[in-house]
Amino acid sequence: MSYKLIETNLDEVTGVASIVLNRPEQRNALSSELMTELSEAIEHFEGLPVVGCIVISGKGGKAFAGGADIKEMAGRTYSQNYKDNFITANWERVAQCRKPTIAAVSGYALGGGCELAMMCDIIVAGENAKFGQPEINLALLPGAGGTQRLTRFIGKSTAMDMCLTGRMLTAAEALSLGLVSRVVPTDELMDLALDMAKTIASKSRMTAMMVKEAVNTAYETSLSQGVLFERRAFHSVFATGDAKEGMTAFTENRPPRWDNK
Ligand code: HXC
Repeated sequence: MSYKLIETNLDEVTGVASIVLNRPEQRNALSSELMTELSEAIEHFEGLPVVGCIVISGKGGKAFAGGADIKEMAGRTYSQNYKDNFITANWERVAQCRKPTIAAVSGYALGGGCELAMMCDIIVAGENAKFGQPEINLALLPGAGGTQRLTRFIGKSTAMDMCLTGRMLTAAEALSLGLVSRVVPTDELMDLALDMAKTIASKSRMTAMMVKEAVNTAYETSLSQGVLFERRAFHSVFATGDAKEGMTAFTENRPPRWDNK
């Protein structure tokens, strides 16, 4: 598939797919055209059996994404927003991806950029990363889940601080708050992200998808319902060939061979 505003790559040997947001001169601002391409790429990779993990990053190193495209948004009206269900359609496609996703954040992840990163399953960051929800400076508010995901991920006080003052978190702060899982020197970021993706893609695809679903359920339900969901998933994983293979391979002291087709 060919795209204008993103670059994609698939390593069929490792099962790692990557998507690079490619508007560096506009700090990878997330125009609707870019988001349409991104959602199409996610759809495409999700449907390919060979893909085990998807990495999303931003071209140029200065920004993962500077947010929704403000210049494009400036002309929108309430009626258009309502009729188009503005922001929901293409954006939520990333959060709904059933395969594991990693956001590799170098530079700014602001507004919709921060929200896009939070729709991924794991965020890893270069030391130069900055996370923020500065919509308040435009008299806007986050519109792609920022007020909700940020609050669940880092707590009310810091989320309020970021959304009300517009202040950015450094990579180190984001790490200490649990927003990101790892921070590395910026020039090592893509190696780290691709390596993590390779590790994830080397696991049983089906079980990895079940793990993702189970962890995400923690954000959607009560603890008792979440634990019940996990128990049911745990019971059902025994019906898969991969779980049998994993336990058999362990007892036979050999590497497992997953049914990753
Ligand atoms: C449109 C953007 C943009 C954006 C940067 N640019 N961010 N264009 N939408 N979100 C453009 C600039 O206009 C400029 O274009 C070029 O990219 C380079 O930007 P600079 O400001 O010169 O770069 P730099 O000094 O490196 O600063 C980078 C930056 C800053 C910190 C990211 O550009 C910035 O503050 N951008 C806006 C951040 C923001 O408010 N994000 C929230 C958007 S609202 P020209 O043509 O002049 O060279 C949002 C709502 C989400 O995301 C709602 C749901 C999705």
